Amino acid sequence: MIEDIQEVFYSEAQLQEIVARLGAQISEDFKDKNLLLVSVLKGSVVFMADLMRHITIPCKIDFLTASSYHDNTVPTDEVKITKDLTIQDIQGYDILIVEDILDTGRTLQRLSGILQHKGANSVTICTLLDKPSRRDPSVTISAKYIGATVRNEFVVGYGLDFAQKYRNLPFIGILKPEIYENAVQ
Ligand code: IMP
Ligand code: MG
Repeated sequence: MIEDIQEVFYSEAQLQEIVARLGAQISEDFKDKNLLLVSVLKGSVVFMADLMRHITIPCKIDFLTASSYHDNTVPTDEVKITKDLTIQDIQGYDILIVEDILDTGRTLQRLSGILQHKGANSVTICTLLDKPSRRDPSVTISAKYIGATVRNEFVVGYGLDFAQKYRNLPFIGILKPEIYENAVQ
């Protein structure tokens, strides 16, 4: 698996620094709020697990799955919620959406709208990575908490996948071009 990586973008140590910084900032900003962390599966699961351990105030967690990509690097227009939250009534919660990467922004635009519509007290976005060069012009949401801004390159590891693989790499990197070229789409 590791032999498929061309370049490491963020090492394990750098990722730990990022989550510590974000966790401290979130703990301060939400100290008088009713914090509910909502992890967008599957990509944010590693980030969520690390981030929540750097949050020092009481909070609850929940998970949902939204699918906008199939097993390739080309986005589809449709954003589908394939697994909803288990907390039924989100009224009164200050939701922090925990996402792996903000790319076109269409997924989080849709999710923020749905959570707001269901009566959340507030909806804020925390993304490990932001790829602003890819943003869809129709997208109006933005992330308040950003781990790092990346250039327009497809990254894997630390939860992020290519065709469902590489999520278990402990760092973030880019794949060798031949991996995409040889992939069955
Ligand atoms: P958006 O709706 O285009 O912002 O899609 C965001 C989702 O696409 C992320 O949560 C990822 O699951 C996936 N994605 C976007 N860019 C990458 C990447 O570079 N590597 C892996 N997954 C990505
Ligand atoms: Mg995702």
